[in-house]
Amino acid sequence: MLRAIYPGSFDPVTFGHLDIIRRSCKIVDELTVGVLNNNTKMPLFSVEERVKMLSEVTGDLKNVRIVPFDGLLIEFAKKMQADVVIRGLRAITDFEYELQMSQTNHKLDPRLETMFLTTGIEYSYLSSSTVKEIAAFGGDVSQFVPEAVALRLKEKIKAKRRV
Ligand code: PNS
Repeated sequence: MLRAIYPGSFDPVTFGHLDIIRRSCKIVDELTVGVLNNNTKMPLFSVEERVKMLSEVTGDLKNVRIVPFDGLLIEFAKKMQADVVIRGLRAITDFEYELQMSQTNHKLDPRLETMFLTTGIEYSYLSSSTVKEIAAFGGDVSQFVPEAVALRLKEKIKAKRRV
């Protein structure tokens, strides 16, 4: 039984993340998508909102569950009984940070391996930050995120403008 976690901020989930989730759940028996609950990162969406959006867009995948987490990733992996961490690599610019993170995690818990999936070329430019910026300026994000997420982005930005 191979259990893996795919951790991230998912603020919000994009088609790039979904590509990694769909491909990973074919490789492993159980996939836990870990949603970081870290307010120091000042996310646009609360952890509950991010979990809800991820649950909606992965509802058809039987071996995937969405779980919020805080604290160290290695502790979360232990709690989820996962042996593998999955991360997506978009471009060479991701590599340095990902290498450092996987090596640190491996040092902290030598049983924990990190497996990298290269993001599909069609999503290699895509990031949650860019999507948020486009949405903030009223741009169309429908080719970057699922419809339900695009709608939430619109609502969130409207609500923020009112404050
Ligand atoms: O989507 P992101 O923001 O690139 O995901 C980063 C994440 C959540 C994988 C990373 O920040 C993380 O693992 N945070 C948990 C704290 C931790 O364990 N830090 C030490 C890892 S080197």
